[in-house]
Amino acid sequence: MTNLRDFIGAVREAGWLVEINKQIDPYLEMAPVIAALDGRPVLFNDVAGSEFRVLSGQCSDRRYFALALDCAVEELVFRMADAYSSPSDPRLVNRDEVPCQEVVMTTPDLRRLPFLTHYPDDAGPYATAAIAVVNDPDSGPNVSFHRLLRLDATHLAARIVERRGTDTALKKTPDDLPVAICIGLPLHVLLAASMAPPPGVDELAIANALAPTPVVQCLTNDLRVPAEAEFVLEGRITHRTVAEGPFVDLTETWDIVRQQPVIEIDCITHRRDAIYHALLPGQLEHKLLMGMPREPSIFAAVNEVCRCRNVSITPGGASWLHAVVQIDKQHADDGHKAAEAAFRGHGSLKHVVVVDDDIDLYDPNEIEWAIATRFQADRDLLVWENQPSSSLDPSATHIPGQKSRSAKMGLDATIPWDQPDSCTRLHEFVRVPFPKADVSAYL
Ligand SMILES: Cc1cc2nc3c(=O)[nH]c(=O)nc-3n(C[C@H](O)[C@H](O)[C@H](O)COP(=O)(O)O)c2cc1C
Repeated sequence: MTNLRDFIGAVREAGWLVEINKQIDPYLEMAPVIAALDGRPVLFNDVAGSEFRVLSGQCSDRRYFALALDCAVEELVFRMADAYSSPSDPRLVNRDEVPCQEVVMTTPDLRRLPFLTHYPDDAGPYATAAIAVVNDPDSGPNVSFHRLLRLDATHLAARIVERRGTDTALKKTPDDLPVAICIGLPLHVLLAASMAPPPGVDELAIANALAPTPVVQCLTNDLRVPAEAEFVLEGRITHRTVAEGPFVDLTETWDIVRQQPVIEIDCITHRRDAIYHALLPGQLEHKLLMGMPREPSIFAAVNEVCRCRNVSITPGGASWLHAVVQIDKQHADDGHKAAEAAFRGHGSLKHVVVVDDDIDLYDPNEIEWAIATRFQADRDLLVWENQPSSSLDPSATHIPGQKSRSAKMGLDATIPWDQPDSCTRLHEFVRVPFPKADVSAYL
C-alpha cells in the first residue's frame, strides 16, 4: 500500500478502524482516548482548534504492518531484512503530480497543526510521528524520527540523539542544516525511517524496496521527501539550543530535560484535507515502530553463529530493551552463542531469552514456560557488566555527553543437550498435548 489513505480504507473495510466524530481537544483530551484504544487505529474527524483530522494507532499491531505489506505476520522480519539488504532508489516525480505539495501555507504556522499535549507537566505540544530528512555532507540522505516540541508559529525544539545520523550531519555542518520534516506517512516509510542502516544507505531507498515510494524535491531546499506525505515542514536545524522536555518517552517514564537544537520552519506544504499522525509515546504504536525494525539486524547477527528461526522484540521490555530469539538448535552451545550475538545485532538490547522453535515467541507465557522448564541459572545465565546501553533505560548510568551504561543479561532457555550433538532426554522437555476433544458431544 503506497499511501496512508489506502491503508485507512483497508482497515475500515477490515472492521479495525475506530472513527470518532465528536469534537475532541488535542490539548490533554485526545491522548487518554488514544491510550484507552491502544492497539486500534483511531481517526478523529473533528479536532478542536484545527482544520485537520488526526489518525493514531495505525502501527499499533503487527497485523496492520502485515496488511500494509501484504504478507503474514511471521514473514515481516524477512520482508524487512530483504529491503534492508537490497535498497532501491525511489523514483523522482514532478512537482505538479504530488499530493504533499497540493497546498502551500502562505504564511507557515505550526499552530494550525494539531500537535498533542499528552500530560499536564509536558513542556508543551509535541509532534511525535515526524520523520526528518537531512543530507549528510559525506554520506548523503538520512531519515530518522525526532520528537518535536512546538515553541511558536515557526520554531521547534528537536530531541536529536547523539552520534546518530541527524546529529552527525549537524555536527559536520557549520551553518544551519536544511531539514524536511514529514508527517502522515504510509507504514512502510515509517518502518524504514526507524531502521539504522550504515551511513550511505538511504532509508527512503529501503522504504522503496518495501513498497513504491516516489519522492519529490522540496520547494525551499534540495531535499527529497515522500510524495505521498500528508504534511512536509521545510526548514533548518540551527546550532542554537533550548531546554527540551519534560516529556514521557518509550519507557512511560519522564525523560531527562536536555539542551537541544532549535529548528526554524520556512515553508509548510500539505495534502488537501491533510491527516495528521499522532503517535502516543510509550504505547503500542511507539513500541512496535521502535523495536520491530531491529528484529532483522538481530536475526542477521544470530544467524552468523547458528540457525536463527525468528526474533521478537517484546512490548513488555518497552519494545527496545528485551528480545526473544528462536533458534533451530544444532549444537549444545548454540543457545549461549545466540544470546551473545543478539547484543551485536541491537546495541540498546539489555536482556535476551533464547528459545527453541517449538516455543511461540509472541506468547509471554510460553517464553516463561521455557525458562521454567529448560533453564538453570548456574548453567544458562550470561551476565556482562558495565556495557554501553540505551539512553532510555532509567536504571542505567547516565553521564551527560557520554554513552549510557548498564549490565546485560542473556538467558539460554533452550532444551539442554546431554550430548554434544543431540539430546537423548528430549521427551522430558517437550510439552505433551491432549488429543483434541469434541466438547459439543458432551454438552
Ligand atoms: C516513534 C519513534 C520516535 C523516535 N524518537 C526519536 C527522537 O526523538 N530522537 C531521536 O534522535 N531518535 C528518535 N527515534 C529513533 C530514531 O529514529 C533512530 O535512532 C533512527 O533509526 C536512527 O537512525 P540513524 O542512525 O540513521 O539516524 C525514534 C524512533 C521512533 C520509531
